[in-house]
Amino acid sequence: MDSHPFPVARIGIIGGGQLGRMMVAAAQRLGCACVVLDPTPGSPAGQVSGHQIVGDYHDPARLRELVEATDVTTFDIEDIDTETLIELEREGHPIRPSPGILAVIQDKLSQKRMLRAAGLPTSDFVALAEDPARTCADFGYPLVQKARRGGYDGRGVAILTGPEDWGRYLPVPSYVERFVAAKKEIAVLVARGLDGDTRCYPVVETRFRPGENILDLLLAPADITAATSARAREIAVATVEALSGVGVFGVEMFLTDRGDILVNEVAPRTHNSGHYTIEASLTDQFEQHLRAVIGLPLGATDSLSPAAMINLLGSPDHSGRPVVRGLAAALAIPGVSVHIYGKAATKPFRKMGHVTVLDTSLAAAQAKAERVRSLLTITGEDHP
Ligand SMILES: Nc1ncnc2c1ncn2[C@@H]1O[C@H](COP(=O)(O)OP(=O)(O)OP(=O)(O)O)[C@@H](O)[C@H]1O
Ligand SMILES: [Mg+2]
Repeated sequence: MDSHPFPVARIGIIGGGQLGRMMVAAAQRLGCACVVLDPTPGSPAGQVSGHQIVGDYHDPARLRELVEATDVTTFDIEDIDTETLIELEREGHPIRPSPGILAVIQDKLSQKRMLRAAGLPTSDFVALAEDPARTCADFGYPLVQKARRGGYDGRGVAILTGPEDWGRYLPVPSYVERFVAAKKEIAVLVARGLDGDTRCYPVVETRFRPGENILDLLLAPADITAATSARAREIAVATVEALSGVGVFGVEMFLTDRGDILVNEVAPRTHNSGHYTIEASLTDQFEQHLRAVIGLPLGATDSLSPAAMINLLGSPDHSGRPVVRGLAAALAIPGVSVHIYGKAATKPFRKMGHVTVLDTSLAAAQAKAERVRSLLTITGEDHP
């Protein structure tokens, strides 16, 4: 029945970071109310939702409190106690995407096994156990070691070109995979609704800053052939269908020097590579995610304009209360949209905001984004 009392839905969001904050903005447009669970009072999402439960993502009591206070629960982070969520789901509480999917993805090794079992293209890999040096030598260098759990923004990833790099070896439960010589890194956002309907966004190119591994520049659409784009979208949709996921998923891929596409990893949530959709798409990723998890029809994913996006990272030599410099200069450029996440303190390389630039050509948008990068900085009151 197409009739909704107000609020249209009460949404629980585990994690009060920037993704949650942008989700709350979309929820408010749709007439939904949000409750956020986050350990930091006044979290970015908590500030805008007005309802925050202050508590840990691993605290069963707080997770239960959130789920019981809302109609449907979702998350903006991956490091959550899935055991409690699986129990709550079994009791009949809607949690989307399903915590079972989160459990598979949280462990990067089980994620790789899932990709392989589903017949999706991904780099070869092997688990590390008793004698990692031996396993690596047998597997062959160069290779990439990945922590099974807890890695993000490149933490938990070590590229080892040979045994001489052993100093970089991560002493945690991990696996190794083949180093991929990539022409480009690309990503595809896929939304899958409660009824199994899927919508796929255009392929975007993600460029990372060497060393930090944090998304440095996003270009939408990616400059690739129509055939490569079609293939990437097909693989991304197949990945989300293999998971039977409900919600928005970010599928990160490599386009190899030989023109093959390999799935790198899947994020069971809205994704940094999709922030540009707020300005550039008919339906942004946050509204799309909400439509999916509430059970509403998915929106059109067409782009209205080429777009470039940069993250605003905390400057390397500051911490403490953020100080934004160059805001007026950046905003004086036509087509520039600045998003500041409202984090109480900056840290070196912390994601403090992002900027999306629309222009009639991708090259023009990229040039403006690079100008904004040199104009706009996030420093802090303290020098560590
Ligand atoms: N097999 C590989 N071959 C070459 N480069 C790789 C490989 N795996 C990862 N990388 C590089 O390291 C980056 C981070 O790896 P990955 O996406 O697995 O980690 P992450 O910590 O989850 O990152 P994020 O949170 O930024 O998505 C990739 O974007 C890519 O640049
Ligand atoms: Mg990644």
